[in-house]
Amino acid sequence: MTHPTLQNIPTPALVVDLARVKRNIDKLARYTRQHRINFRPHTKTHKSRLMARLQMEAGAGGLCVAKVGEAEVMAQESNDLLLAYPALDPVRACRVAELARNTTMHVAVDSRQAIDALAAAARAKGTTIGILPDIDVGMGRTGVQTPAEALELAQHADRTLGVSLDGLFCYPGHINVPAVEQAGPLAKVAAILQETLDLYKKAGLAAPIVSGGSSPTCYQSHLVPQYTEIRPGTNIYNDTNQAKAGFEKWEDCAATILCTVVSTAVPNQCVLDAGNKTLTSDRYFRDPDHAGHGAIVEYPGCKITRLSEEHGQVDLSPITDPAGRPQLGDRVHVIPNHICPCVNLHNSGWLLLEDGQIEPLAIDARGMIV
Ligand SMILES: Cc1ncc(COP(=O)(O)O)c(C=O)c1O
Repeated sequence: MTHPTLQNIPTPALVVDLARVKRNIDKLARYTRQHRINFRPHTKTHKSRLMARLQMEAGAGGLCVAKVGEAEVMAQESNDLLLAYPALDPVRACRVAELARNTTMHVAVDSRQAIDALAAAARAKGTTIGILPDIDVGMGRTGVQTPAEALELAQHADRTLGVSLDGLFCYPGHINVPAVEQAGPLAKVAAILQETLDLYKKAGLAAPIVSGGSSPTCYQSHLVPQYTEIRPGTNIYNDTNQAKAGFEKWEDCAATILCTVVSTAVPNQCVLDAGNKTLTSDRYFRDPDHAGHGAIVEYPGCKITRLSEEHGQVDLSPITDPAGRPQLGDRVHVIPNHICPCVNLHNSGWLLLEDGQIEPLAIDARGMIV
């Protein structure tokens, strides 16, 4: 078999640069050590056991998942998992309860119904599931709306057999202003958490875990002193959203899609073999209508203007010299707008090693959306 290289592997291909991954993990590990916060990376970004292992080896205190299928994979890399998703249907709850035989399981919930479903499943299996009441700190997606409601859930968890109250959960996914402007919005998060923790204390309840964090706010997490842990996911790989918005540098983008130029027939345009089945339709969040569909590393001035399923149209008009334009058969690297759903579209990827060799990268939890 031909030795795989970036010149001969089939495209489009997900390529992950190991040196950059290690740098990104190290940066997070150093920051959290300095501020005495646990990090529990969200594995929905990479869906890879190898990446999870690197994160655990760097000092992660556990892993975060969205779905129970991901939990079943990641339980092989950590015995402490947080399901950051309201698992309230009996099938899901039953799988969580089964996992709890050998893994410490925490689940973020925002309803009594979820607590009751998880508790019933845990009692049936003879296990215990940890509950983190989810409070909405401004994103408006999930989470109870007031500290009093969070207390109510906490008290319900505390007195229900089969579950234990483990603390409090939030996700500040609405905060994506530049880091220097985050103090105000993060102070609001801190105030909501503190008010809730004060109510817990008055009611005699403890919150050993207060889980929050995101990639855009990651390195400002110390401004929320209530956090005991943070759950960034994206910043192991980073993407155009992270780099263009200034949360990380372009050189910190560890995952790219290697594409081939498959057509130059239309004037001032080339077509890449990557459409929305490869890059997803996610837009750059600050300028969704004009920013294009990812950044081309070799041609930063050229925009991917349009995606169909398998075609990415690139406007070459900024390059006036025809010799300076990408040619048919050329290969280019694209940094997707949002790497997480992109990874999930690839059956497997390639790991670019520090010596320049490449080897297959398994995406172990790919497609595990249940
Ligand atoms: C509940 C929850 N926690 C943590 C994260 C990780 O945040 P980020 O994607 O900013 O790294 C996400 C991302 O979707 C999330 O939904």
